[in-house]
Amino acid sequence: MTNTELIEKINKLKKEKNAIILAHCYQNPEIDFVADYVGDSLGLSRLASKTDAEIIVFAGVYFMAETAKILSPDKKVLLPNKNSGCNMADMINLKQVKEFKEKYPDVPLVCYVNSSAEVKAQCDICCTSANAVNVVKSLGLKKVLFAPDCYLGSWVQKNLPDVEVISYPGFCPTHLRIIPDEIVKMKIMYKDAKILVHPECHQEVVKLADFVGSTTQIMQYCESTNHKQYIIATEKGVIDRLKRDFPEKEFILASSKLICHNMKWNTLDDILNSLLYDQFEVTVEEEIRQKALNSIQRMIELK
Ligand code: 13P
Ligand code: SF4
Repeated sequence: MTNTELIEKINKLKKEKNAIILAHCYQNPEIDFVADYVGDSLGLSRLASKTDAEIIVFAGVYFMAETAKILSPDKKVLLPNKNSGCNMADMINLKQVKEFKEKYPDVPLVCYVNSSAEVKAQCDICCTSANAVNVVKSLGLKKVLFAPDCYLGSWVQKNLPDVEVISYPGFCPTHLRIIPDEIVKMKIMYKDAKILVHPECHQEVVKLADFVGSTTQIMQYCESTNHKQYIIATEKGVIDRLKRDFPEKEFILASSKLICHNMKWNTLDDILNSLLYDQFEVTVEEEIRQKALNSIQRMIELK
């Protein structure tokens, strides 16, 4: 089947089954032709909590689909390709989060959404890359634990010097592929370019940024500013969309290695099969779901 035929079939089936397709902006760009919403983790969580659809097809990675299921337990949540995991989320399990908390008794834990439901169930509040600083600030505490991304933890620490942020040693292998030297060289080649960096990058890369933000925040920055050139330090899916949406501007990927293969599994064929055969359904045990829900809802309720 051609892509055009697949897109037509998916869009028809979506209506017939009262399904919604949510896609992260690291997905292959052709997924946008069938997606009802494309965005960052925060936007996708918000939408998953509000939709009236009976089925949510989540074109993203497992923890994102699981978050949607936690927020919408009565809906069927489908992950089109079951290989779509997240290396960072896999760096912390239930035993490890418990050990981390035991080392620092009575210090609240802030948990990045890039984590499993079991881990979220152990934390006090969740955050995404878009709101991590605000979430920690809202707690008004002197000390917090942060898991699993130590680089997002460093970004929070940099913005909130009065809070002690104790980070778990997790990281995103994709974002760590960007090294400061590459950015410095690019800045020499593209003198007027603005450097936009995701906070999962190493703090030495973050230091070189003109703007640090989530994927959606980076895209909004490009839309709302009038520079000619932008160096983008996040996964390739973002630059694919920026080039498509703003052909008059120039976007340069900070490193050709910036591809998250976990995010590229889902294809249009997978999405069609997912809708046809209700696969692959994501479930969360109710006791864990309830606990994880508290920490996600606390985050969503913040402005
Ligand atoms: P966003 O919070 O920008 O969606 O990022 C999610 C993610 O997995 C980045 O690696
Ligand atoms: Fe996980 Fe990194 Fe891929 Fe995001 S880019 S899904 S954090 S491995």
